[in-house]
Amino acid sequence: MKESLVDVRHLTVHLSMAQADVTLVEDVSFSVAPGEVLCVVGESGCGKTVTARSIIGLNRHNPNFRLDGEILFDGRDLMQLGDAEMRKVRGASIAMIFQDPMSSLNPLHRIGRQIGEALRLHTDLSRGAIRQRTLDLLKQVGIPNPQVRIDDYPHQFSGGMRQRAMIALALACSPKLLIADEPTTALDVTTQKQILTLLARLKDEYGMALILITHDLGIVAEIADRVMVMYAGQCVEIGEVRSVFRSPQHPYTAGLLASMPAANRARSTRLPSIRGTPPVLALGRATGCAFLPRCDFAFERCRSAPSLEGKVADVGHLDRCWLPTGVEAARRGAAPGIAP
Ligand SMILES: Nc1ncnc2c1ncn2[C@@H]1O[C@H](COP(=O)(O)OP(=O)(O)O)[C@@H](O)[C@H]1O
Ligand SMILES: [Mg+2]
Repeated sequence: MKESLVDVRHLTVHLSMAQADVTLVEDVSFSVAPGEVLCVVGESGCGKTVTARSIIGLNRHNPNFRLDGEILFDGRDLMQLGDAEMRKVRGASIAMIFQDPMSSLNPLHRIGRQIGEALRLHTDLSRGAIRQRTLDLLKQVGIPNPQVRIDDYPHQFSGGMRQRAMIALALACSPKLLIADEPTTALDVTTQKQILTLLARLKDEYGMALILITHDLGIVAEIADRVMVMYAGQCVEIGEVRSVFRSPQHPYTAGLLASMPAANRARSTRLPSIRGTPPVLALGRATGCAFLPRCDFAFERCRSAPSLEGKVADVGHLDRCWLPTGVEAARRGAAPGIAP
């Protein structure tokens, strides 16, 4: 196995609320090797964004959040870094892009100035070199007429162009890890595809690792090396994308895959219908398997919580389900699954 760039171990995120303490993310562990793509999938509210923001320390100033576990990056535990060091890591080694580009772009400053500012802070390039590098970045992300657009303000860009500018900003310092949190959800289908294709290409050009949170399982199939499925703040299945897509072990994963649109149909931006909805984490969690109320294969044992275990031959393919031989076997009646 390749040495990892980022190694998240037993990440747990607690949130104190007026009435109670709740656990938004529970014992999540995964690693990403240099240059690798890990896709994170799961319905809204399953803890994907909280997990991503935890890696780059965006929750550290919220006194209501408490994090446990370790986030090793290049061998250092990011949870132990001071704020100044963390800012350095965030600017130069790890970058994050969000669903809404305006959360990264300042509406009051020209696009070029914002990218230049990142370069000024994190590199020792001269003014001329910064301008040249900014133009190169705008060109790399497919912005036409960079010599003109460099002086535009964000509102002069279309949604897709703003997303490209945000990617340019994220790439400015050649990060080793890019975290992209549903970067295309707000865009039309054609632009979504273009942006994701661009990300995949830039990842190769820059040799970056990529953690991509997305609803689009077609994209996952295309660009992920590994995939992590989150449900109710837990990792319920993780493994090589081929192994997980070929033999999903968790009924939640199987449900997501079953409703994946055919490749040539327009992709829906919403996740498909598995009956019911995910639990609201703020209301606290039930004992037993979190997916039990929605599961067609539930049986007596599911009243106690399953742990994350490997059941298939592929190394590193783990799932949090009591079905002894996976969903396919259960479907054929070879498992003790009885719908409640
Ligand atoms: N700052 C916050 N305050 C209160 N609850 C939060 C906060 N951030 C996230 N949550 C809750 O944590 C859960 C997971 O959220 P999130 O990570 O955003 O889910 P996802 O990205 O998978 O849609 C949700 O129930 C959400 O309401
Ligand atoms: Mg989210």
